[in-house]
Amino acid sequence: MDFAALAGGYDELRPAGESWRELAEVELAELGAAARLLDVGCGTGRFAVFAAERLGARVWGVDPSSEMLDQARHRGARGVGWKQAAAEHLPFKDGWFDAAHAHLVMHVVDDVGAALSEMARVLCPGGRLVVVSFRREHFDRFHLNPYFPTLAGIDRARFPDPAALSAAIGASGFHDVAERGLHQQVTLDPEAVLERVRGRYISTLHLLAEWDYQDGLARLEHDLAGHDQPVAADLFWSITTARRT
Ligand SMILES: C[S@@+](CC[C@H](N)C(=O)[O-])C[C@H]1O[C@@H](n2cnc3c(N)ncnc32)[C@H](O)[C@@H]1O
Repeated sequence: MDFAALAGGYDELRPAGESWRELAEVELAELGAAARLLDVGCGTGRFAVFAAERLGARVWGVDPSSEMLDQARHRGARGVGWKQAAAEHLPFKDGWFDAAHAHLVMHVVDDVGAALSEMARVLCPGGRLVVVSFRREHFDRFHLNPYFPTLAGIDRARFPDPAALSAAIGASGFHDVAERGLHQQVTLDPEAVLERVRGRYISTLHLLAEWDYQDGLARLEHDLAGHDQPVAADLFWSITTARRT
């Protein structure tokens, strides 16, 4: 998946609003008092900057997409360094970090096992790992499913099953592996929903057959354009934590 096309509109189409902040606070609490934190697949850098400000930690954000990193660098944040790298090849020495974080990244890495082993390598013994993804309910109950009937199947195949992810973490140099859910119910402005879908705000919308996307968008426009009734959406997060052995 090439994130170059998504980078420019990422923060606008996926705003870091109230629900983002609620989840970020949970992630931060799970990371603990890290002095050196790694954010893998940092994207436009929103969490890395938030963590640096809140923890007073030295944070490194890494991402293979130069376009996403350009957005991150524009934040001009203090205490955060950016490096272009994939999770499978982290440009840091062994045991350098106290904590590592990956938010909505494991479904796009080429090799989950290699990525987890690299995170284990750069963490110190006892170092904290926090991996955030979606539970299966998220795809089953996604608010756009009625418009894009193939979307849920694509995402179920792309995103790691939380139990399988926990097992992979446990097999990659970590112990005390624990998975918990966070259910958020949000309401969205119909125009914002349309703007997001027109901008293909989630990468899965780039993976649909073009006719499937156009057909769903036309039906969504028919149902939502000019309407002021908020759209209800459920988010079922999966938060997996572990300690470096
Ligand atoms: C859905 S975005 C999430 C970005 C950010 N973590 C956030 O939550 O806003 C996925 C990110 O993973 C990055 N990515 C893709 N392949 C990767 C890899 N092999 N290793 C690390 N990051 C990767 C993409 O460039 C993109 O920035």
